[in-house]
Amino acid sequence: MGRKSNRAKEKKEKRKEERAAMDAVCAKVDAANKLDDPLAAFPVFKKYDRNGLNLQIECKRVSTLNPLSVEWAYELTRANMQTLYEQSEWGWKEREKRDEMKDERAWYLLARDSDSAPVAFSHFRFDVECGEEVLYCYEVQLESRVRRKGLGKFLIQILQLIANSTQMKKVMLTVFKHNHGAYQFFREALQFEIDDTSPSMSGCCGDDCSYEILSRRTKHGEAVTGHTHGGGHCGGCCH
Ligand SMILES: CC(C)(COP(=O)(O)OP(=O)(O)OC[C@H]1O[C@@H](n2cnc3c(N)ncnc32)[C@H](O)[C@@H]1OP(=O)(O)O)[C@@H](O)C(=O)NCCC(=O)NCCS
Repeated sequence: MGRKSNRAKEKKEKRKEERAAMDAVCAKVDAANKLDDPLAAFPVFKKYDRNGLNLQIECKRVSTLNPLSVEWAYELTRANMQTLYEQSEWGWKEREKRDEMKDERAWYLLARDSDSAPVAFSHFRFDVECGEEVLYCYEVQLESRVRRKGLGKFLIQILQLIANSTQMKKVMLTVFKHNHGAYQFFREALQFEIDDTSPSMSGCCGDDCSYEILSRRTKHGEAVTGHTHGGGHCGGCCH
């Protein structure tokens, strides 16, 4: 009897600790989502003046973006990605992509040229993945005329900076294996790692999946050892 009630007590205590840990994770995500401008503290990152580009960079919640900019972002994503989606098990689903890009949790980094015309963007969110607070990069999309000038790298560096300053544990993203340029960009140039939650790490259906989940830890996520997955969707399979 005594042993059983001790075990029950321990279990209860453990559940309490896990709940408190998850509350702390959610509090960080909520705090990040309440910011007006996550880039406000880093004015030098609001300009990109290199390699023949002279751009202004802003960071905004989707609700404060001009709907025309969101439409431009959708059209650029379609132009860059539709074929790649069609070559995957996902297919291209216009309605879903539009909804995802307009979701109220969406944040945007937007780069504009000297005429205020948008030329590149990243859609990202502060979220909980497998019990950890993360910055999830949903898209990084550049018009072809501004590629290979360091801008993509700069935008991802900004995401890393924002993730650090909001105490997220890592920057995550999904990349198609057959998007060879982007795959090389993230894995080789930016040194992203294959995330533990990626299908290829599950030992079940990795080879059948056309994508990998990549991540790079921030300074807040570096010392994680013996981490147990506490929530979110941690599936490693593609269906
Ligand atoms: C992928 C993308 C974001 C990269 O941005 P970018 O500004 O062109 O890349 P950068 O100039 O910052 O590249 C930095 C380094 O990454 C690597 N890299 C970038 N693009 C590459 C490509 N197409 N092929 C191979 N390596 C590439 C190179 O090492 C490059 O350094 P280098 O130019 O000195 O050789 C951009 O090409 C893009 O928008 N592509 C279309 C949309 C897309 O696929 N998005 C990613 C979805 S997951």
